[in-house]
Amino acid sequence: MTGDLLSLDGVSVVFKIGGGLGLIGAKHVVALNDVSFTLPDKSEIVALVGESGSGKSTIARLALGLLRPTVGKIMYKGREISDWLKVDKERFRREVQSVFQDPYGIYNPYYKVDRFLYIALRKLLHINDAEHARSLIVEAMRALGMRPEELLGRYPHQLSGGERQRLMLVLALLIKPRLLIADEPVSMIDASLRAIFLENLLELKNKLGLSCLYITHDLITANYVADRALVLCHGRLVEAGKSEEVIRDPLHPYTKLLVDSMLLPDPRSVNVSSVASLDVRRLSELKPERGCVFRYRCPYAMKICEDKEPVLNDVGRDRRVACFLYSDQTISTQLG
Ligand SMILES: Nc1ncnc2c1ncn2[C@@H]1O[C@H](COP(=O)(O)OP(=O)(O)OP(=O)(O)O)[C@@H](O)[C@H]1O
Ligand SMILES: [Mg+2]
Repeated sequence: MTGDLLSLDGVSVVFKIGGGLGLIGAKHVVALNDVSFTLPDKSEIVALVGESGSGKSTIARLALGLLRPTVGKIMYKGREISDWLKVDKERFRREVQSVFQDPYGIYNPYYKVDRFLYIALRKLLHINDAEHARSLIVEAMRALGMRPEELLGRYPHQLSGGERQRLMLVLALLIKPRLLIADEPVSMIDASLRAIFLENLLELKNKLGLSCLYITHDLITANYVADRALVLCHGRLVEAGKSEEVIRDPLHPYTKLLVDSMLLPDPRSVNVSSVASLDVRRLSELKPERGCVFRYRCPYAMKICEDKEPVLNDVGRDRRVACFLYSDQTISTQLG
């Protein structure tokens, strides 16, 4: 759809794992199942939240063009990303940048930080003058409250995980992308630096007008920076809305569980704490073969949830939820 910055339209991703010759005995993992959402072409931070294994990083990889959907379309500025990579890869790489969970892997261990940033400036912005590049780097670091005199000249392993993550924001300030895909960007940063990082992110949004897909387990930081929130459960989008409203008044029982595990006082929240402490390794076993993906853990599961998979329905202004508790179909099925 034109007019959107990023859009996923009926996207499913199925991974094949294991299996011998001819992939006999291979298993299929459905990482995403019919996911659709859009980021409009305005400056916005959208949080993508969900438990471990819910499919968040898979969406990040799709949006960066590192992975193709098995089914469905993923578009940037109205054009399929696979098409961008064929036709105008350089512009796509410049406009869509990333901050990873552990960005260590993207740094070349033999290059000092300065060289890493110079190369990015040369490749993406065609700045070949080293002096000019250095002054831009120093300026960007200072603008984000970092000390260039301490950081430049170091190798990646001589930086902390948090410093490596914040350097990705320096890169963003230099390259001025249109969209930042931030996958657990504050996972390696302690509380005080986390606040600075999030402030930096908001500054980038306000100054550069960038948009960001902010991926996190952590609803507190999501609430702090994000305008909207999307909630993923076992590869399905189950709730979407303004982040403040989703967190203050979660509708989907899964979102309630996530909010409950934040330990925020929410007088209307149901008592789902008994299921909030589940072992993460067991989460994939708790995904039903059919029906609603959350029904095994849902305190409200009904007969219809076993038979049918709820789709996202509008339940208010800018608010969508995939749950039969909020669907007319439930009422008509129960009556009829
Ligand atoms: N390359 C792959 N091959 C097989 N399965 C994969 C692959 N990548 C991801 N998966 C599976 O897809 C599902 C979604 O994974 P994903 O990394 O998107 O989750 P996530 O929400 O980012 O989790 P986390 O919060 O732990 O980072 C998981 O069940 C995962 O095991
Ligand atoms: Mg992940």
